[in-house]
Amino acid sequence: MPGLVTQDTPFKTIKVKELHPTFGAEIEGVDFDNVSDETLQEIIAAMAKYGFCVFRRTSLTDDSHVAFSKRLGELDNVKRYLQGGRKLRYQHLELFDAGNLDENNKIIDPDSPRAHANRGNGLFHVDSSFNPRRAGFSLLRAVEIPPRETGGNTDFADSRTAWDDLPEDLKEELLAHDYVGAHCMAQSRKLGSPEYFKELRPEESPQARHKIVQLHEPSGRLNLYIGAHLHHLEGEGMTPEKSAELIQKLNRHATQDKYTVSIPWENPGDLIIWDNRCVLHRAGKWSGAAQYKRDLRRTTVHDDGSSAWGLNPKDMEMPGFYSWNRAAVRV
Ligand code: OGA
Ligand code: MN
Repeated sequence: MPGLVTQDTPFKTIKVKELHPTFGAEIEGVDFDNVSDETLQEIIAAMAKYGFCVFRRTSLTDDSHVAFSKRLGELDNVKRYLQGGRKLRYQHLELFDAGNLDENNKIIDPDSPRAHANRGNGLFHVDSSFNPRRAGFSLLRAVEIPPRETGGNTDFADSRTAWDDLPEDLKEELLAHDYVGAHCMAQSRKLGSPEYFKELRPEESPQARHKIVQLHEPSGRLNLYIGAHLHHLEGEGMTPEKSAELIQKLNRHATQDKYTVSIPWENPGDLIIWDNRCVLHRAGKWSGAAQYKRDLRRTTVHDDGSSAWGLNPKDMEMPGFYSWNRAAVRV
């Protein structure tokens, strides 16, 4: 981990160590069995500043993970992904499964459909940008982790600082045109495993529309809302060629090494909260997928900001299990 700097901060109940020069913090001093309102407010304030916060060795269980998350807003759930017959390996519908285990807690075959679909998570992305109502916070908790030397970190990219650093003429163009990004899950699945998903046609998938330059309301800073689910751009004068070129340029820009930091999972109970409205993240490289269990579970808090729904009608259905893979494979 890059040098930890303990910050002299205004916080009274928590201690903050910065993880990167522009974003990311490790927070100490939170008793997850009993989080006071004051501490909750301090965590929310730290999230606005740092974009993601790491909490080591929490005492959280499935129950208390979900209960704590509910204090941060309305939670999304996985009901719509279970329509294809897939079963959850735990009780809570609010827990998204980011692990490599099947419903019997056995390691999934790295060449199985689900493993190929999971490869898309190895590309920098924003959770739920393909939903009509986007996500605010994600809270990812380790239940079982693989040996450290096999990798399996979670990596983050600072998309607010990436916006700040864009050349002025590009910033002006983006602000003047106020481009809209159309997002779908099929796009990242195909990018993550192109050969396996060669029949998949993202352009036929339902798309959710969100502006690509947005104010991050909790911090008052602008953010690039991009990532691997972003399929194409819409706006005056936009062409398919220009869209593809600009998406690639912005995604490459925002994920340069200088904007990223890689966070190892150290112990069961570790928790990372990130704000999808101001950082990108990905599953880092991992050589242990066939041998080791990596059991990570995530709650996802719906955005409650003024641009939560982007340009999408509020009665638009959340894309479910068959929205992206009907034409290709069953996962
Ligand atoms: C997620 C995710 C990354 C990881 O849970 O949304 O992208 O490291 N996880 O598993
Ligand atoms: Mn994710």
